[in-house]
Amino acid sequence: MPVVDIHTHVYPPSYMSLLRSRNTVPYVRTFPDAPDTSRLIILPGEDDPATPSTARGRPVGPEYYDIKQKISFMDTHGIDVSVISLANPWLDFLDPSEAGETARKINDEVNELCEQHPGRLYAFGALPLSAPAEVVVAEIERLAGLSRMRGIIMGTSGLGEGLDDPSLDPIYAALEKHQQLVFLHPHYGLPWSVYGPRANEYGHVLPLALGFPLETTIAVTRMLLSAVWDRFQSLQVLIAHSGGTLPFLAGRIESCILHDGHLAKDEKLEGRRSVWDVLKTNIYLDAVIYSEVGLKAAIDASGKDRLLFGTDNPFFPPLGGETEWLSVKTNYRAITGAFGDDADGAKGVLGDNAIRILRLSS
Ligand code: URA
Ligand code: ZN
Repeated sequence: MPVVDIHTHVYPPSYMSLLRSRNTVPYVRTFPDAPDTSRLIILPGEDDPATPSTARGRPVGPEYYDIKQKISFMDTHGIDVSVISLANPWLDFLDPSEAGETARKINDEVNELCEQHPGRLYAFGALPLSAPAEVVVAEIERLAGLSRMRGIIMGTSGLGEGLDDPSLDPIYAALEKHQQLVFLHPHYGLPWSVYGPRANEYGHVLPLALGFPLETTIAVTRMLLSAVWDRFQSLQVLIAHSGGTLPFLAGRIESCILHDGHLAKDEKLEGRRSVWDVLKTNIYLDAVIYSEVGLKAAIDASGKDRLLFGTDNPFFPPLGGETEWLSVKTNYRAITGAFGDDADGAKGVLGDNAIRILRLSS
């Protein structure tokens, strides 16, 4: 039974050099009180000078950039194929003048890493979203011709104004035309103030467990409200972390839309596609939710044929350094538990769905 991991990140060596050359978020550096450990500082807010330097960001080692470690992680966890993606914050922070060239370089580098491991690695490319839309469109067209690329990964900021921005239309059109799946992944979370004055005492729990999924849910709801999927009816989006909270909240979102006088007055309710229709036609969900409850909501919302196994490696390593990762075991267990006797359903989520949807050969 082939196992395919579609949510697994790398920072290829040239991206690491870029992070090492910077001193504002995102960056990689050592701090005087722990000079032997490089730390990866990427999330908004995790650079707070009030946080002790050893609690800022996370330690970063070869598991983030050495592709051999990815293969060894795959071997340890029974993963046959990985669809790797640049991790957040991708290329969002680049100066517009350098974004296009950097995207080409990094995407080529990732494609080559995959070619060095035939049958085991594919990838989602990254877009130069700080550059003008035509540069982004050109990279989408180029990615469609790279041997191991199977779509693109992006965050929720779009060209700077979110995913309901009409300026994204040429980009959505190019993605649709070239049948490039969008892997939508959070990064920015919620405004730090919602975590309260003691946020720094709670590690990364609030931004990762809640900020990430809510950011994703809001971004997708804005896409729905701005009728992205009415204009681009075959645009396919794979949403990280089982859709954030979208499967659980879809009914409430749909009901709020149908009861909104402003939308009705502006004639935005006529001919619109429902959240449920989009969930079952345009949206794929990963299975990175760590529980049967969340997984069952995802299955109910989008269907078991649209759910794909992932690990989020190299994030969430075991704190005790164990070889087998608790985060991965938990996701495997949730899939086995949620499907019970439906062995074919579990097989689909673990690999068959990804092979079919992303045209992989294992
Ligand atoms: N933390 C991140 O910053 N990114 C991930 O993908 C997972 C955890
Ligand atoms: Zn991730």
